[in-house]
Formats: sequence, C-alpha cells, structure tokens
Amino acid sequence: MKTHKIKFKLNGETVLAEVKPNEVLIDFLRYKLGVKSPKIGCDRGDCGTCTVIMNGKTVRSCLVLAVEADGSEIITVEGANKNKITQKLQKKLHEKNAFQCGFCAPGMILSATELLTENPKPTKEEIKEAISGNLCRCTGYEPIVQAIEETAKRENGE
Ligand code: FES
Ligand code: FES
Repeated sequence: MKTHKIKFKLNGETVLAEVKPNEVLIDFLRYKLGVKSPKIGCDRGDCGTCTVIMNGKTVRSCLVLAVEADGSEIITVEGANKNKITQKLQKKLHEKNAFQCGFCAPGMILSATELLTENPKPTKEEIKEAISGNLCRCTGYEPIVQAIEETAKRENGE
C-alpha cells in the first residue's frame, strides 16, 4: 500500500513520519510513536478515551486518519502538562481523588482544558456539557465536575 509522508507538531516537537492512507491517528500515536495517554476504548467515536487536542480543538483520534495530522499541531496529556490550566486542574483532580481506574482521565483532562481555555467561568451545566463526550464507568462524574468547577474558581480568584 502506498504510504504518505506527514509532518506535524506533537506536544511542541516536530514529527516526520510515513503513514498508510488507512492508518488511524490513535493507532499511529500509541503504537508507532509510543504516546500512551490517549486510550482505545470503543474505537468508534463513542467514549472519548482517545481524545487529543488538534489545532486547539478536541478530537476523537479513533475517528481521525493519521494523514489528516499533516500540518497540524497535536497535544496529548503528555504535552498538556506544560499548560498552567492543565497543571492546576490535575492538582485539583488529585486532591479530590476524582478518578478511580483513570482510564477516562486523559480525555477528560483535555476536554476540561479546552473548556477552561475557551470559557474561564463555566457554569456547572457548561462543565457537564463539555465532558459529556467522555464516558466514565467508575465515578458518577460528580468529583470530576467539582474539580473542574473549583479549578475555574481558583483561576478567577474566587
Ligand atoms: S476510542 Fe475513540 S471515542 Fe472511544
Ligand atoms: S475513573 Fe474509571 S472510567 Fe473514569
């Protein structure tokens, strides 16, 4: 099968690679580049565990082809850790023991980072809406929502 050369930024570093036209981004990230924070849950766009930030917006990397990464900027939790909002959010999630198995955590953290970047004072409903595409089988969501809410309040000096 013919391969395609792609060049993009992953967590601030330039990546050059050759990918097959049918190669899916989540597989490329995990199995070729060894980036393990995005997880494969449903593999069909339902669960959000494969979420990455692509050109500033969250996408489900199981629904994106690796060739589509060409020219883009992709952030995973490994790189989002450099972001101050993500750092504060992770601290708050940790304080609240917001996760149990943690499988949903990377996707949840990126969705919340996107929200708090675009909307620094979200309502509880907006928080719930922002993470509604990230399924969690363990927690009932409440501690996660609270952690996001408290991170926003702390950011706003409340
Ligand atoms: S693995 Fe991509 S949405 Fe579930
Ligand atoms: S903490 Fe287990 S799926 Fe969310």
